[in-house]
Amino acid sequence: MSAPDIKKLGARAEAMIAALAPISAESGRLVRLFLSPEHRRAADLVAGWMRDAGMNVSEDALGTLRGRWGGGKRLLIGSHLDAVIDGGNYDGPLGVIAGILAVEHLAKSETRLPFGIDVLAFGDEEGSRFPSTLSSSGACAGAFEQETLSLADRNGVTFADALTAYGKNPGGIPSAAYTPSEVAAYVELHIEQGPLLEEENEPLGVVTGIVGQSRLRVTVTGEAGHAGTVPMNLRRDALAGAAAMVLVVERVAKANAANRMVATVGRIEAIPGATNIIPGSVAFTIDLRTMSDSIRKAAIATIQHEARGIVEARKLGVAFEPFHDAAATICDSALQDMLAAAITDMGHRPIALPSGAGHDAQMMAKLCQAAMMFVRCRGGISHNPAEYASPADMGTAIAALIRFIERYRPKS
Ligand code: GLV
Ligand code: MN
Ligand code: MN
Repeated sequence: MSAPDIKKLGARAEAMIAALAPISAESGRLVRLFLSPEHRRAADLVAGWMRDAGMNVSEDALGTLRGRWGGGKRLLIGSHLDAVIDGGNYDGPLGVIAGILAVEHLAKSETRLPFGIDVLAFGDEEGSRFPSTLSSSGACAGAFEQETLSLADRNGVTFADALTAYGKNPGGIPSAAYTPSEVAAYVELHIEQGPLLEEENEPLGVVTGIVGQSRLRVTVTGEAGHAGTVPMNLRRDALAGAAAMVLVVERVAKANAANRMVATVGRIEAIPGATNIIPGSVAFTIDLRTMSDSIRKAAIATIQHEARGIVEARKLGVAFEPFHDAAATICDSALQDMLAAAITDMGHRPIALPSGAGHDAQMMAKLCQAAMMFVRCRGGISHNPAEYASPADMGTAIAALIRFIERYRPKS
């Protein structure tokens, strides 16, 4: 074992983030979707880094890269390579790069461990292409849902067809699953995506749990009509009804501030979408999150109840289509303690904090003990091109990850 050089690790991480950054379908903004040519290019680059670090590289039926180092039970370290549209460069890649640099350090220093490491680079954490999220980690955890295969992207391409075009066999998905007995634990390093670490003036945090999430598509139907001739009292304006529902979503989340509930309408489309036509139908999404699954479900029921009241008063119709329901996940307490000890060893105060963002760790927790370390990001900004973590913080985080690995022993 030799002490890692934090400065060098930070500079390496920054250079690798910069190398991935231009892999985008559009110049000028980051668009890196699951199973796209950009996914392929990013995976090829990362696979090369894994090989250089001394790992054997394979790819599973969902395109998840698996860099394998050492023998025995597997300590899984991973995160994702896909991005939200016009997102930042650190959300996801940092966790993959951290695993690679940690293995590289351990291999170079000829560290012997009583377990092996698999670094995983998932392709579908964000749900930016298909109305599915965490499908890659879901497959590794043996929790892939077969219905996902028929979901279509905005161009009508199904998940199954996109997989086939990527050179994968949808029939092989069950083989992507680890068996619980071969796995020791899953650890993910990720930028915080919020302001708490900055407020605490500390670079690293230990995640206590990950919020549960509900995502729904809502369709409101009314009647399209002439914007100049239909009197206001005779209209069945789907967008006016949807607007009232958006405010219900906001009100319900604010009423649950004590449970740190957040709810977002991030997408809305009026049809036919013309200046001089009363909207005949509207589709919008709801994303609602909180740590308590029962409170989350009750909030969704309240929103649906109030939406039905709105459509009744306005003579509209409404339909709800849930497309994502992830239970809240408590991170493993023994792993949390070990991550906190590693951060303390780096001379820092580990900050315990919950995650309001979804993560692959949520799926991997269905397979094995799972935990996460957060890295401070500037201004708490994420899902935004301004996302930034300093090389010093990234280097410290990777050194803490190395310390954690050196001390970690799987439960027998
Ligand atoms: C993933 O980043 C999510 O929480 O939406
Ligand atoms: Mn992420
Ligand atoms: Mn994200």
